[in-house]
Amino acid sequence: MRVLVTENFSQTCEIAAGMIAEVIRNKPDARLGLATGSTAQGVYPYLIQANKAGEVDFSRVDTVNLDEYVGLAPEHPQSYRRFMNENLFDHINIKKENTVVAEGVGDIEANVREFRFALARKPIDVQLLGIGVDGHVGFNEPGRVLYDAAHVELLDESTIDANARFFVTRDEVPTQAISMGMGDILRAKKLLLLATGENKTEAMKGLLLNEQIDSQNPATLVKTHPDVTVIIDKRLAKSIGYAY
Ligand code: F6R
Repeated sequence: MRVLVTENFSQTCEIAAGMIAEVIRNKPDARLGLATGSTAQGVYPYLIQANKAGEVDFSRVDTVNLDEYVGLAPEHPQSYRRFMNENLFDHINIKKENTVVAEGVGDIEANVREFRFALARKPIDVQLLGIGVDGHVGFNEPGRVLYDAAHVELLDESTIDANARFFVTRDEVPTQAISMGMGDILRAKKLLLLATGENKTEAMKGLLLNEQIDSQNPATLVKTHPDVTVIIDKRLAKSIGYAY
């Protein structure tokens, strides 16, 4: 596991975007695994900028997102499809038909099957990851068992609390999501896990301060991956007690 400690969150995002752009330059038809949330949101402006500057071409790229809320239609302001369109896809030269975000409404079982098909079609070249306050990646929540493949996940109370900031009231936050499984994530060729903010300290301690893999902290499973880069800012590094 490679750990980079940056000056600040924008530097974290710039480095991550640079690494994603490099994957695309080396493989113009790369498949990107993408994430939503505040952390990933910081990365996308740098990719947009690089695309506009002609430094990276998305015309042959395809993408698949980690997750989508159950119960939110694609056009819902807080759906992850809408997030991706507004924060990235609408601003780069990607073909929308080459972007996969699981469908959160309708026949959920069928949507999970379709998402599994989409994942099986092509391996992910680089997967962008944030981390939940409880250590979730994608929406793989802590538990006695974790899932290999895409599935419906019941969101933890701490995840609902954390995501309530995007909704008018906490009651509006969906309680379930369709998520890639841990296996889907670990099958990506390269993982980029970014974290910022002191509320991620406990989860990040499990990732960086010991050698254990713990299903109660799903992010720790990335330790088994042969090509993972973790990027944190020095403020979070200090709070974790990570020596750099
Ligand atoms: C989002 C996702 C989640 C987030 C995590 C951190 O698609 O899968 O695992 O990456 O909840 O969210 P932020 O970055 O908002 O703290």
